[in-house]
Amino acid sequence: MRIGLLTGGGDSSAINAAIRAVVRKAFAEGYEVIGIKRGWRGLVQDEVEPLFLGSVSGIVQRGGTILGTSRTNIFKLEHGLENVMVNIKKHGIEAIIAIGGEDTNGAAHKLAEYGIKCVGIPQTIDNDLPCTDYSIGFDTAAQVACDALDKLHTTASSHHRIMILEVMGRDAGWIALIAGLAGGADNIIVPEIPFSTEEVIERIEKRKTKNKDFSIIVVAEGAKPADKEEQFVENQKKDPFGHVRLGGVGDWLANEIEDRTGYETRVTHLGHLQRGGIPTVFDRVLATRLGAFAVDMVKEGLFDHMACMKANNVVAVPLTEVLSGTKTIDKRLYDLAKLFY
Ligand code: F6P
Repeated sequence: MRIGLLTGGGDSSAINAAIRAVVRKAFAEGYEVIGIKRGWRGLVQDEVEPLFLGSVSGIVQRGGTILGTSRTNIFKLEHGLENVMVNIKKHGIEAIIAIGGEDTNGAAHKLAEYGIKCVGIPQTIDNDLPCTDYSIGFDTAAQVACDALDKLHTTASSHHRIMILEVMGRDAGWIALIAGLAGGADNIIVPEIPFSTEEVIERIEKRKTKNKDFSIIVVAEGAKPADKEEQFVENQKKDPFGHVRLGGVGDWLANEIEDRTGYETRVTHLGHLQRGGIPTVFDRVLATRLGAFAVDMVKEGLFDHMACMKANNVVAVPLTEVLSGTKTIDKRLYDLAKLFY
C-alpha cells in the first residue's frame, strides 16, 4: 500500500505530530508514504517526495508542517483535477490522508466521486469541524490566546485601561471562548452571538462600581454587532475558496467604547501568532492518536471518512457528515463564562 500524505489550509502547531504518527504507523504496517508538498497543490504541480522514518524524526515538538501547506482549490484551477489524477497514477498512490480543515477535507470528499480514496484528519485552530470534539491545533492556539490575556491583564490593571484582544475565528468563536474562560476575560464576544455595544459598556461600568477600573475583552474576528449585516473585513481579497480576510472588529469596538465613555481603550491583534508556537501536550497526543488511526482507516478501507475524536475515543465519521455544517461554540460554556464577568 502506498499512501499519499498532505497538509492543506491554514497551518497550526501540532500538524507535524500527526505527520509523524501517520508515517510511523504506516511503516509499522509495511506501507510506503509519499509526502505531497504544499497541500493539494503538490498533486497539481507534481511536487512530492517519499517520507521515511528519518523524515519524521525530531518533529513532534515543531510547529507548522514539514510538508508545507497552501489553500489550493483544485476544482477551480484549469487542468487542476486532471493533473491530480495524472500525478496520483504516476506515483502509484493508492490512498490519500489529508490533514486540514473544511476546504481540505471538502476536496478529499469531492475526489471520492473520481474514485480517489481519501481519509481526512481534522486540523484547524478554529475548531469548527463538526463530528470531532477537537481539531488539531486548536488547543495550542487557545493557549497562546490565554497567555496573551494573562499578559494584557497586568498592563490593563496598571494603566486602568480597557484592553481588547482580537483573535481568529471566522464563524465559530472557540478560541475567544476557551481562552476567555481560562484567562478570566471580562467579556467574550463570538461570531455566533451578535453583540450589543451598550451591553459591553454596561459590563465595563459594572466593574467600575466594584472598584475594578480595567476590563479585558476578547473578541473573535468574525463577530459583529447586532445591527450590522456584514462581518468586519481587513480587505476584500479572497482566497481560492472565496474567504475574505476578516479583521477590524476590535478596532471598531475600541472606538465605540472610547467615544461613548471616554475610557482609554487599546486593541491587540493576536494574528498569526495563534498559529505558531510549541504544541501543547493535548494537541500532540490528539494528533498522534488521529494520525495513527487514519492509517487504520486506510487498512480497513474506511475511505471518504474523517478520523474524529469523540468523548476521548477515536472514531471514523463519513465526510458527508463532517461537511454538513460548522461546529459552533458550546453555549453552556459561554453562559458559564458570564459568571466571571
Ligand atoms: O485557519 C483558519 C483561520 O485561522 C481563520 O480563523 C482565519 O480567518 C484564517 O485562518 C486566516 O488565515 P490566513 O491569514 O492564512 O489566510
